[in-house]
Amino acid sequence: MPRISLVEKVHRILAGHLPSGGLSIDATAGNGHDTLFLAERTGPAGHVYSFDIQAKAIHATRELLQRAGLRNRVTLIHAGHETLLEHLPGQVIGKIHAATFNLGYLPGGDKTLITSTATTIPALSATCQVLAPGGCITIMVYPGHPGGEREAAAVNRWCRQLDSCLFTLHKTTLRHCRRQPPELLFIRKKQP
Ligand SMILES: C[S@@+](CC[C@H](N)C(=O)[O-])C[C@H]1O[C@@H](n2cnc3c(N)ncnc32)[C@H](O)[C@@H]1O
Repeated sequence: MPRISLVEKVHRILAGHLPSGGLSIDATAGNGHDTLFLAERTGPAGHVYSFDIQAKAIHATRELLQRAGLRNRVTLIHAGHETLLEHLPGQVIGKIHAATFNLGYLPGGDKTLITSTATTIPALSATCQVLAPGGCITIMVYPGHPGGEREAAAVNRWCRQLDSCLFTLHKTTLRHCRRQPPELLFIRKKQP
């Protein structure tokens, strides 16, 4: 069987949880590739809420969506994902089907502007609150860059303390590829 990349795995997981007309969050818009994927999957009746702290990332994501003709399916939020509960409309709380966190730095951007434990963990906790039953969160962590190892350890610790009656946790690491390979953590909120 051909090997698939972790990004492809993330997209498969998101696609498996996001129905047409569904609601999703891209917690780290970056260059907009994950936001575009969610906007395509969600169809005209769905919606994506996409966050980033960098104007450059919001701009790149807006351009990508405009080129694809999907700008109207996405609310772009130029703010940290830790402020998620302040920015999401009340009617979507508890109804989010899929959320994705692609941590680290903006590819092609300033490598010192990275996601950090102090904001990532509160954002993950807030996302758990807004998920629909059966909804999922994917988290890509990169222990290989400066600061990444500490964040990866904290995210792993946070995932392990989740109540196993309420959430399931899966982890994939591409062990063959390098010394500190990226990790994919996948959390699913159980149906009551
Ligand atoms: C690895 S990139 C995301 C890649 C993106 N998903 C894509 O498809 O191109 C990580 C992004 O997280 C953003 N970021 C850092 N801290 C953040 C925060 N507190 N809230 C939201 N975004 C943040 C960075 O600005 C950067 O653009």
